[in-house]
Amino acid sequence: MATKTSETNTATTTPEKKITVGNASVNEKEMKDSSLHQFFVSALKDIYFAENAIIDALEKMQEAATTEELKDAFEDHQLQTKKHVSRLEKVFKLIDEKPEKKECEAIKGIIKEGEEIIKSTKDGSMTRDAALIIAAQKVEHYEIATYGGLAQLAITMGHDKAADLLEKTLEEEEDTDYTLTEIAETYINFDAEQED
Ligand SMILES: [Fe+2]
Ligand SMILES: [Fe+2]
Repeated sequence: MATKTSETNTATTTPEKKITVGNASVNEKEMKDSSLHQFFVSALKDIYFAENAIIDALEKMQEAATTEELKDAFEDHQLQTKKHVSRLEKVFKLIDEKPEKKECEAIKGIIKEGEEIIKSTKDGSMTRDAALIIAAQKVEHYEIATYGGLAQLAITMGHDKAADLLEKTLEEEEDTDYTLTEIAETYINFDAEQED
């Protein structure tokens, strides 16, 4: 009968820095080689690409929006998104990795949907704003899922400072999602419903 072998030999031989994760003290090199760490870094590169793409998308959505209120909301969130990019750069630094972008097909698809909304709705219409809000909320929900998961992983892996930064961004994405709902429900959806 085959017995499963476990890789326990590296911990005793490598004189690298130890870091404390929960109750366990693990070797830093060992952690960097782990599948979970590699996934964490890969997911950070994915959202780093996404945030940069979102900065450009918000610019186009701001120009296309009908109401000043929505234009302002997109402009405010574009400024926040620039902060999200620099926070991610800090996270990379904290875990001793280089900030690199990994092409993210998901965000490209969601952004493309927003571009199609601009093409298929009338300039100056409230229907455009109602549709743009939903497109923007799809972006926010993608970010909320990503930052929520990554913040939890960072906590699990003992990257507390990185977790704080990811949670700060998560809060701003959630606030933006809430603000967009408020804008839609205040009058935009009602006005859009009156249009031909
Ligand atoms: Fe963001
Ligand atoms: Fe966002």
